[in-house]
Amino acid sequence: MPFVNVRNLFKSYGNSGKYVLNDVSFEINENEFVCVLGHSGCGKSTLLNLLAGFIKPDKGEISVDGQFVSKPSEQRGVVFQDHGLFPWYNILDNVAFGPKALKNKDAYRISKRLIKMVGLEGYEKVYPSSLSGGMAQRVGIARALATNPQLLLMDEPLGALDAMTREKMRIEILRIVTFKIKLHIYETLTCTSDYYDYRWLISHF
Ligand SMILES: Nc1ncnc2c1ncn2[C@@H]1O[C@H](COP(=O)(O)OP(=O)(O)OP(=O)(O)O)[C@@H](O)[C@H]1O
Ligand SMILES: [Mg+2]
Repeated sequence: MPFVNVRNLFKSYGNSGKYVLNDVSFEINENEFVCVLGHSGCGKSTLLNLLAGFIKPDKGEISVDGQFVSKPSEQRGVVFQDHGLFPWYNILDNVAFGPKALKNKDAYRISKRLIKMVGLEGYEKVYPSSLSGGMAQRVGIARALATNPQLLLMDEPLGALDAMTREKMRIEILRIVTFKIKLHIYETLTCTSDYYDYRWLISHF
């Protein structure tokens, strides 16, 4: 059975009657690394939000590891374009948020290990406002991994970064993903720099 199974997915917003996703079906196997490419507004974030369980399809089914997706789950980590860190929590508490919510007694130990893995050891007590965009994005990745998800979903994880930081972060993501992740959906736009991010990641995975 495929790890991710998407069957005849339809999604529209409001009463527009227009499907953003119109009969979409695909399968992804374990340990696959998948990039979704398409022009702005074609429905990439919509697809990602459906896989995350943030929104529901009009019709069709999504299953991950044999379980139907009907709501968000700690089994599916999400990295947002603008990192989405809680400004009122320091880095350690941001990363520990998920495992603490799950009442994991090892929340801080796990989080410290992940902070080290993304190269931010020593920044545990720092607040997001003091981090650069690339550092914050790495914290976002650590946070998404803290519940040990089966599936990591990334919506343009490099979109908010400048060209030089993107270059570094591509290598970072590859390192982290190779080390940790079973499946990674990485979305890009069609503009040149994003396209090269995609090409580079796929060719180095
Ligand atoms: N919450 C919403 N309410 C109404 N329409 C929406 C909503 N979210 C997305 N849409 C519409 O659905 C379509 C797909 O949007 P989506 O954000 O999935 O595109 P995208 O491929 O991620 O685009 P981009 O590359 O610009 O991020 C667009 O036409 C958008 O206007
Ligand atoms: Mg989008």
